[in-house]
Amino acid sequence: MASPEERSLDSKIKVLFVCLGNICRSPAAEGAFQDLVRKKGIESLFVIDSCGTSRYHLGELPDLRTRQAARKKGIELVHRARQFQKSDFDAFDLVLAMDRSNLKDLLSLASGEEERKKIHLFRKFQKGEGKDPDVPDPYYGSLKDFEEVQSIVSEAAEGLLEFILNKNGVKYAP
Ligand code: 4NP
Repeated sequence: MASPEERSLDSKIKVLFVCLGNICRSPAAEGAFQDLVRKKGIESLFVIDSCGTSRYHLGELPDLRTRQAARKKGIELVHRARQFQKSDFDAFDLVLAMDRSNLKDLLSLASGEEERKKIHLFRKFQKGEGKDPDVPDPYYGSLKDFEEVQSIVSEAAEGLLEFILNKNGVKYAP
């Protein structure tokens, strides 16, 4: 296998996190996953992005509370909100829905089994029993709710990375 530096865009693993507004949960997930792979020194294996199913907040930075919760973990979020496009099914290998409503919206946009197979509920990768399947929407909540989201997406990012590395047979020195 080529070293991470030698990987062309084609051979990179392309991961897209999706929520409704792209200002709370999916940029938090994008930042957590990016931070995780950077710390492991395998950032160059990946293309990582996020988007929303809606157009509500196009071009905006993540919500201030999302950025505050991420900053407490040493993560700086600079993503600008964009809407999911059908072409994202071609551009990405994995499309991670933050909740079941996002999942339903994404499935309704997918054409064919190939595209549908790329879509997963993000929290299914979080370890542990009895979890809610959804990353809760913190938009109408408090900073504490955003911190809870930050903690959920960090744990789910760990599980997702493990899944991806196993699936792709990637070996690296931690
Ligand atoms: P997100 O949260 O989908 O996690 O970015 C929301 C952001 C904005 C709205 C709802 C949820 N909104 O209704 O504007």
